[in-house]
Amino acid sequence: MSAGNIESSLPPVIAIDGPSASGKGTVAALVARELGFHYLDSGAIYRAAAHAAHQAGVALEDEAGLVGLARRIELRFDGVEVYLNGVAVGDVIRTEEAGRAASRIAARPALRAALLERQRAFRHLPGLVSDGRDMGSVVFPDATLKVYLTASAEERAKRRYKQLIEKGFDANLSELLQDLMDRDARDAARVAAPLQQLADAALLDTTSLTIAQAVARVLRWYREGMD
Ligand code: C5P
Repeated sequence: MSAGNIESSLPPVIAIDGPSASGKGTVAALVARELGFHYLDSGAIYRAAAHAAHQAGVALEDEAGLVGLARRIELRFDGVEVYLNGVAVGDVIRTEEAGRAASRIAARPALRAALLERQRAFRHLPGLVSDGRDMGSVVFPDATLKVYLTASAEERAKRRYKQLIEKGFDANLSELLQDLMDRDARDAARVAAPLQQLADAALLDTTSLTIAQAVARVLRWYREGMD
């Protein structure tokens, strides 16, 4: 666990990384609320960028086109809503298809570089909780606390299934499981900022934890680091 940068003059950051559907977004948002910190859902930035590419007819393989687009788009977060060029896209970017498209463009190093400062700009007082794949490794390597939040693939597929059914979407558990495993494999195997458990990240396996327990664990680690 990294708790060594508390004396940094920059606002504190809790970086929570982990695989798809691990619940890291829910945990991160609740930790942020508890501490009164800002919250960055970095996956939403990749999802919104992929959506913008789709709208603009830029191919997901066109790295230069993607970079140009990433620089031009206007992105704004308001609670759970995400505005892309002034239009609410919260629902469209949360589909499985949008996740797959995000994961494809996220493998492009130049696109990642183009989105880097946009993510760092969320670091404001009193602090930030951010979640993604490379929060602790690339975006905030000096984070106050780094957490690798995961759960078994089966448990993650079940959670995603429940979420989709509750929202009134059709869902197939075995397809979801396959999709999650494909996305994890792509995120972990890529050269640019792969998903990995860092040596200085605390492991939080939530397979048999409730959301409240996972939140409490992160808060405890953070507060212990402040002592
Ligand atoms: O976290 P979420 O599932 O919303 O992220 C969608 C995709 O965006 C991931 O599968 C991953 O490929 C990419 N991503 C990333 N780096 C981040 C956040 C998300 O590469 N920091």
